[in-house]
Amino acid sequence: MSRREVELLEHRSHLRTQLEEVAIGLTQTDQKTLPCKWFYDELGSQLFDRICTLDAYYPTRTEHRILEDSAEAMARMCGPECAIIEYGAGSVVKVRFLLDALEEPVAVVPIDISGSHVAAAAAELAADYPAIEVLPVCADYTRHVPLPPMRREARRKVAFFPGSTIGNFHRDAAIEFLSRIAQTVGEHGALIIGVDRKKDAAILELAYNDPEGITAEFNRNLLRHLNRELGTDFDLDRFTHRAVYSEARGRIEMHLESESDQTVMVGETPVELTSGETIRTECSYKYSSSEFRVLAREAGFRCRAEWTDEDRLFGVYLLEVA
Ligand code: AVJ
Repeated sequence: MSRREVELLEHRSHLRTQLEEVAIGLTQTDQKTLPCKWFYDELGSQLFDRICTLDAYYPTRTEHRILEDSAEAMARMCGPECAIIEYGAGSVVKVRFLLDALEEPVAVVPIDISGSHVAAAAAELAADYPAIEVLPVCADYTRHVPLPPMRREARRKVAFFPGSTIGNFHRDAAIEFLSRIAQTVGEHGALIIGVDRKKDAAILELAYNDPEGITAEFNRNLLRHLNRELGTDFDLDRFTHRAVYSEARGRIEMHLESESDQTVMVGETPVELTSGETIRTECSYKYSSSEFRVLAREAGFRCRAEWTDEDRLFGVYLLEVA
């Protein structure tokens, strides 16, 4: 397969800003936290890809099936000559379902925080879809991401946010983020979004505690990534993976539990951890259909369509700017 050249646009925040953000999370007095975007260095993105193939991790295959079965219907609702903007594109696999179904899509903008990962995936995509302009962007999309200029003007901008990554945002931040997407796609714009649904806690907890231990490795790799990029000195062997579902908060929480009393240097700041204390590394909120529709409405979208699987594990929504 020949690779078409694609240029990667990079929006990087300053090291100092990143170190500050990390230090703030680690000096919280009630619950120490780390931003989950740090999961995704090259190795982390690969580990995540492996998680997606695990028996225990139902969301990926379930969403795939929904996209496969419903891509035609989605494409019809979107219309011809769309530009697709994918947030957290990772390996840029899922957007292919859409591209294959859409009538004459003009451009794809895959945005991901892992630059090397998204650049390689975008090159493959460009080779497979020669008629479509592929414009990868490396950015932390929790901040504003300006779109790169496109050669052809799209009739409609459609954001694509699969994988239930919206679950990583607390409620207010989710509304803010979706509102920003509404602004980015503008009038007549749309958003196709995958959302993990509320379900039996045992199914949820297994999905984040796979017997193969890949999720544990993925969780700990966040510390390795921080050590490399920000010069922290976490000892990975002194942290244990924990994942629990909080029924009250409707979210999975991933934590790293300190196996002993220890001090970690974060820039100039010493961070003390006691034995058994945890750092929360991720929240993954689960939404019932009605909860998610309310959220979407608050962000300025109306729900045009919703698809789910027969076990109602996962939802895919087509939202339009209201
Ligand atoms: C990429 C945020 C959707 O929350 O299920 C998978 C990340 N964390 N296993 C999720 C994840 C642990 C995933 N999202």
